[in-house]
Amino acid sequence: MRVGVLTGGGDCPGLNAVIRAVVRKGTQEYGYDFTGFRDGWRGPLEGVTVRLDIPAVRGILPRGGTILGSSRTNPLKQQDGARRVRENLAELGVDALIAIGGEDTLGVAGRLYEEYGIPCVGVPKTIDNDLSATDYTFGFDTAVNIATEAIDRLHTTAESHMRVLVCEVMGRHAGWIALHSGLAGGANVILIPEQRFDVDQVCAWVTSRFRASYAPIVVVAEGAMPRDGDVHLKDGTLDSFGHVRLSGIGEWLAKEIERRTGREARTTVLGHIQRGGTPSAFDRWLATRFGLHAIDCVRDGDWGAMVALRGTDIVRVPITEATARLKTVDPALYEEAGVFFG
Ligand code: F6P
Repeated sequence: MRVGVLTGGGDCPGLNAVIRAVVRKGTQEYGYDFTGFRDGWRGPLEGVTVRLDIPAVRGILPRGGTILGSSRTNPLKQQDGARRVRENLAELGVDALIAIGGEDTLGVAGRLYEEYGIPCVGVPKTIDNDLSATDYTFGFDTAVNIATEAIDRLHTTAESHMRVLVCEVMGRHAGWIALHSGLAGGANVILIPEQRFDVDQVCAWVTSRFRASYAPIVVVAEGAMPRDGDVHLKDGTLDSFGHVRLSGIGEWLAKEIERRTGREARTTVLGHIQRGGTPSAFDRWLATRFGLHAIDCVRDGDWGAMVALRGTDIVRVPITEATARLKTVDPALYEEAGVFFG
């Protein structure tokens, strides 16, 4: 048995831990051979491979990024994409494919299995934690820790100058990073994509914070939207899954706060710092367990399955179930955080 492995979409701390676990268990326990595919779906689509064996995965557990590279290539948007993937797999002697990715990468894996019979197993990853069917995705814990540390640091400089500091974090459709890091970091306002916000209300919270002689920290997810506005786009470009590039809400909001309250307001955009570098211990643990269970799915021929975390158990769910809808922040959870606003 030869198993192909690919990592697609935005990179995420813990990808290498999955690859290592898959290769170690697959080689040692089941005697499988592996083929690494370069740059997500571009690998099987164009037949671009890298050597993947035990020596190749030595020392990668604490490393951020992915040794396989990643891209947002969508083979189903290419002429004869599914057929080319199937032919390349056959030519390379690859019998099964483990796709490690978010909603887009796994969506392709689900369809390649359901519609074209290509034997795929999915492993969920995204720092955004917005994949259904799993309690957590790896990468999220690392991103939240990085954002929390940044918020802690912003507090002391904000207090020194008595100015508003707006911290923009990732989260296109779901505000998990903003909510968790905002709560952990003691933010005075948290704004998420799931709930449109009222700028006057934000300014009222900012003013009440100053009245208590403290400087306000506002955490805003990149996909958050004001009541009468739209998302802030970095530029007009779309990736091959049709996603726009976000960023700018923090800058816009700081200007509005300054204009409406007369208090100085500045913005910090955390951007890719949240995704880079070494994974947290929790993410290494989760990614490793996902890898161990994903190779078991291959052994069992459980095609179209995705591994998922439920409590402390790793379970299997259909990929199509996990990608059918996004896991967004429950309004009750957001409301809970409201005690600390202002
Ligand atoms: O999907 C994860 C994510 O981090 C989103 O929160 C963000 O919008 C996007 O990736 C940015 O991706 P990229 O840096 O690849 O453009």
